Amino acid sequence: PGKARTAYVCSECGADHNKWQGQCGECGGWNTLSEFVVEPAAKAGGSVAASRRSSWAGKADAPSVTALKDVRHSEEARVGTGIGEFDRVLGGGLVHGSVVLVGGDPGIGKSTLLLQAISKMAQTLPGLYVTGEESLAQVAGRAARLGVPVDGVHALAETGVERILEHAVTMRPGLIVADSVQTLWTEELSAAPGSVSQVRESAARLVRYAKETGTAVFLVGHVTKEGGIAGPRVLEHMVDAVLYFEGESGSRFRVLRAFKNRFGAVNELGVFAMGEKGLREVPNPSAIFLSGSQSPQPGSCVMVTREGTRPLLVEVQALVDASPLSNPRRVAVGMEGNRLAMLLAVLHRHGGIGVGDQDVFVNVVGGIRVQETAADLPVLLAVLSSLRDRPLVDRTVAFGEVGLSGEIRPVPNGEDRLKEAATHGFKRAIVPKGNAPKSGRVGEMEVIGVERLADALHAGT
Ligand code: TYD
Ligand code: MG
Repeated sequence: PGKARTAYVCSECGADHNKWQGQCGECGGWNTLSEFVVEPAAKAGGSVAASRRSSWAGKADAPSVTALKDVRHSEEARVGTGIGEFDRVLGGGLVHGSVVLVGGDPGIGKSTLLLQAISKMAQTLPGLYVTGEESLAQVAGRAARLGVPVDGVHALAETGVERILEHAVTMRPGLIVADSVQTLWTEELSAAPGSVSQVRESAARLVRYAKETGTAVFLVGHVTKEGGIAGPRVLEHMVDAVLYFEGESGSRFRVLRAFKNRFGAVNELGVFAMGEKGLREVPNPSAIFLSGSQSPQPGSCVMVTREGTRPLLVEVQALVDASPLSNPRRVAVGMEGNRLAMLLAVLHRHGGIGVGDQDVFVNVVGGIRVQETAADLPVLLAVLSSLRDRPLVDRTVAFGEVGLSGEIRPVPNGEDRLKEAATHGFKRAIVPKGNAPKSGRVGEMEVIGVERLADALHAGT
């Protein structure tokens, strides 16, 4: 049998190094390497390479090459979680044998969400809730307080992976929730629980168990200060899906977002409202991302974004103010900073409006992150509105990509977006010409199609 070797694993990117060094050779992170004991691959006789060699030599169990069209397959079997917004983010329900990492800040509601899900699924997919952070009495107490029914839900207060899996083998649950992955540890490693190597190895065991038995597994992960889950990418590539549970402090709304999903679309959003009876679904979330101010304010523009499969009305705010700095600030919250810088350059060059001596702050309301280019035009309208200290015409929405030569480019699903805006009572939409209907109207709403940035700015203010 081989000897255990020591590796040094980067907590940022998961890269393996043979010796300790101050900086990770892969991602360049400083002080991110920690010690990790790698067990020999096969205990009884031989390394991975050796067993591979025997397959190459034509052992009976060697996998054979098959024409892909002859391979029998089935649609992934899915089971609904009983929570529509959760199913949406999962890509239409939970896939048997899949491993899903649910990350988020402490106190955001991860345990509550999973407790509610496991409770709803008790009949269709009996679950085992493993808690390493709270006592069983605390879990039961929260369930009672929130009115979550716990008939048929089994719980275990345990952090040792070996013990957890022993119970799983006896009980054969269809679903395991491990809350949280940071508390798990395996006897095989001497490293302290919570260390990157323990978390990684423990998660790997659960993943292996999930794949071998078809058991679905939720791993709960706390986001660290740096914004990653237990040394972020270390777990991301092991699991089938990574979901983040987010929300602004002080807001009762929570957004579940797919960051990676082998079985569905990323960027899909599930929206929840937090309450005394636990999380409630918000199936029509558009209204909550508007700031709610009654009269139109300077520096604000409502856009129709499309995150995942549904359109969403979101307010973007800008503040433009004379800067005391020689290098004025550009701060973007909820969108990419580089994109903002690029848009400001286009605004100067093709809109004739310079903000070179101004600080520019842009914020997407509701703690939402907008990643699509349809936000370009609304961002510039908000900036212009703030610069001129003049609100946009009341009840106006906008969307559209802004190209480097000042052209306004159409975006996908224009019709959907316009319908959503009209449904919510907007009166005017400024959109790319290619997205505007010939009639110039959608319901009661007037639709203004624009081709150039200058036209858009003129229509907006
Ligand atoms: P919890 O689920 O424990 O957060 P996490 O597991 O992410 O750390 O939730 C934190 C607290 O908020 C807990 O005391 C329960 C409470 N809570 C509600 O009262 N209503 C809700 O809808 C949610 C989600 C949580
Ligand atoms: Mg918790």
